[in-house]
Amino acid sequence: MANVVVVGAQWGDEGKGKIVDWLSERADVIARFQGGHNAGHTLVIDGEVYKLHALPSGVVRAGKLSIIGNGVVLDPWHLVGEIANIRSQGVSITPETLMIAENTPLILPFHGELDRAREAQNSVAKIGTTGRGIGPCYEDKVGRRVIRVADLADDATLRLRVDRALVHHNALRAGLGLEPIDAEALIADLKAIAPEILQYAAPVWKVLNEHRRAGKRILFEGAQGALLDIDFGTYPYVTSSNVIAGQAATGTGLGPDAIDFVLGIVKAYTTRVGEGPFPTELLDDDGERLGTRGHEFGTTTGRKRRCGWFDACLVRQTCQTSGVSGIALTKLDVLDGFETLKICVGYELNGERYDYLPTAADQQAHCTPIYEEMEGWSESTEGARSWADLPANAIKYVRRVEELIGCPVAMLSTSPEREDTILVTDPFAD
Ligand code: IMP
Repeated sequence: MANVVVVGAQWGDEGKGKIVDWLSERADVIARFQGGHNAGHTLVIDGEVYKLHALPSGVVRAGKLSIIGNGVVLDPWHLVGEIANIRSQGVSITPETLMIAENTPLILPFHGELDRAREAQNSVAKIGTTGRGIGPCYEDKVGRRVIRVADLADDATLRLRVDRALVHHNALRAGLGLEPIDAEALIADLKAIAPEILQYAAPVWKVLNEHRRAGKRILFEGAQGALLDIDFGTYPYVTSSNVIAGQAATGTGLGPDAIDFVLGIVKAYTTRVGEGPFPTELLDDDGERLGTRGHEFGTTTGRKRRCGWFDACLVRQTCQTSGVSGIALTKLDVLDGFETLKICVGYELNGERYDYLPTAADQQAHCTPIYEEMEGWSESTEGARSWADLPANAIKYVRRVEELIGCPVAMLSTSPEREDTILVTDPFAD
């Protein structure tokens, strides 16, 4: 059976929610492998709207196993609230349908506080984070002082872990002028939430390997986008996890040979939330138009997204770093009615031409896009369900995107409705 990884191939917000939902209906297991509740997926099923941040998209579908892998950072209080919310919409969530890796790091309240305090300093350090404590929690994981799900099960271990974390954090907080954390109060809070989390704790790597051997279909649900990857993104304006497809293996405990198909989600134009380089950003009426037509406001923070032309150079790069087998192209209809469309095919920097985004921050900031122009289309593509429904110029645009990024279109999404999809290649096909 095929196992599929879904990754965002730009800066996030490519429209993963609908595609992941479409695929999760066909999967047996849906696993998150990185990020945390900085993500925001909106699912619309039979008219009911579900807003998910930390939970895998599979939870809303009966008979599926949803997994939070060790590559995720988990805020236990947020999770309990999110489960309560989703349950109030009539969805059943039990230890049979949701499992959390025992080695998942926990986001604690001081992580969020630290994240927000750093951002509020408004200095050169500002990243434009979601303020959810994602970065500080990953820092603690790598610093070997994070508290993990399994630590909640034993009082003595928990106390040791809290002490270890606070040696670092209370010194840091003193420097930032924040009150020290009271260890006893934190331990009491953690002990109170522990049973709620521990009921879902499992050796996820083992469960997944068993499911794989049993021939079940596994869908790895990525969050954010490859250009926010800690290694391959526009550093330091990135999130703190590996977002690219290789992380599906390390973030769950399945070997990379378990991955049969990598689906890159690609929006027909480009958006970005937060600070950082964005070569094709449009600060004019065209940018406003993309934002308005595309409803480009963040699901998690409500922030207005920056908008720009499609950057084929960047997507070619992310298709390679994630080993993308095929893309799902979304929101083509947002381009309806533009007389001329531009696609970035490379950059110019100091008189030289680049066919990739150079790594150095100052180079990234000064790259000028080289554009290719294409004739737009006046007809509506919204709701198209076959190639025959698309205007000739829209097909030309899609074909040119494929050529430039070096990757075929596997799916084309033409509205938020799940049926409004043109399927070219089924990622789950054996
Ligand atoms: P953090 O993940 O909260 O640390 O934020 C780091 C950067 O990633 C910021 O630019 C955020 O706007 C961006 N980011 C984090 N999560 C998402 C997402 O789900 N969609 C788009 N951007 C995101």
